[in-house]
Amino acid sequence: MQLGKIPRVRLGEYPTPLAELQNFSRMFRGPRLFIKRDDLVGFALGGNKVRKLEYALAEALSQRTTVVITSGATQSNHVRLTIACANRLGLRTVAVLRGEKPDVPTGNLLLDRILGVAEIHWVNPKEYATREELVRATEERALELAEELRRRGENPYVIPNGCKPLHSALAYAGCVMEILEQMRAMNLAPDVIVTACGTAGTQTGLVLGSLLFAQGQIRVVGISVSGKAETLKERIRRNLEEALRFLGVNIAVPSQSIEVYDDYVGPGYAIPTPEMREAVEFLARTEGILLDPVYTGKAMAGLLDLLRRGAFKDAKNIVFLHTGGIPALFADTQAPVFYAQLPL
Ligand SMILES: Cc1ncc(COP(=O)(O)O)c(C=O)c1O
Repeated sequence: MQLGKIPRVRLGEYPTPLAELQNFSRMFRGPRLFIKRDDLVGFALGGNKVRKLEYALAEALSQRTTVVITSGATQSNHVRLTIACANRLGLRTVAVLRGEKPDVPTGNLLLDRILGVAEIHWVNPKEYATREELVRATEERALELAEELRRRGENPYVIPNGCKPLHSALAYAGCVMEILEQMRAMNLAPDVIVTACGTAGTQTGLVLGSLLFAQGQIRVVGISVSGKAETLKERIRRNLEEALRFLGVNIAVPSQSIEVYDDYVGPGYAIPTPEMREAVEFLARTEGILLDPVYTGKAMAGLLDLLRRGAFKDAKNIVFLHTGGIPALFADTQAPVFYAQLPL
């Protein structure tokens, strides 16, 4: 199956910009560094979810959906962008958030309100021993709500947090095609793409794109923001194999094509680290580009460290994927890390 034949509703503005980080490249005197701006995808402050939602919502429309249900963390970028994209298609969104309802909504949660989320249901973290259990309970609550809505005559469509693995894979394989075209126009080709890795859907798609469109010659480096590298690698392999089967493509997935580092998570998901703060401030101050504290900040901390350790000695051109997440900079849980230690 050709990528272009899979149902997709186009919601973003493409191609998203690809720009060279000239000051950054000069400072490291090594490979040229580029940034792929999926934060500028043209939708409600952007991010990697838009490309994925284009496949998810095409499936929703084909099923005559009346309401979308999705879930995520209190400060979920995925939930914000699902509401925004569903709005464009005239669909309501019900959100299930893991967290305790704050008195004052900030960051993404504020935007969820402005975007007119139909309902928010809270799943209290205190009731679960581990993050995994909490995540599972949140997804189960979404499925229960779908049942309730079905009984009331609605036709709900449930989008898992981060979208279905197949939709993510197709979306980011498409992004690789876009990057290749943009670099080819400059007479260049990417040697490495670096991305934040959460559910690993984005990375799966980038590896798929490298295998499909670049003979596997683009090294895709994932920087975990929560999970263990081994768990994520297994997930990526499973999801890649599913995507290849779906496309009817018979290519082996070499184990070295799945590369994930979990050294930059710090104490846990969405918990700020000094290296994240350094990375966010570094890019802001050298290039005037803002990263987010939960995903791209930690991914950039990984890229900086790997560069310093000489991990990209053979690379000429490195692309850092900006997957969005900017509203989290303004979240009450994140903002203090940037001012608490600074004199006013
Ligand atoms: C800003 C941002 N970057 C990266 C990711 C990670 O993407 P994935 O879940 O596909 O690994 C997310 C997912 O929530 C995100 O919101």
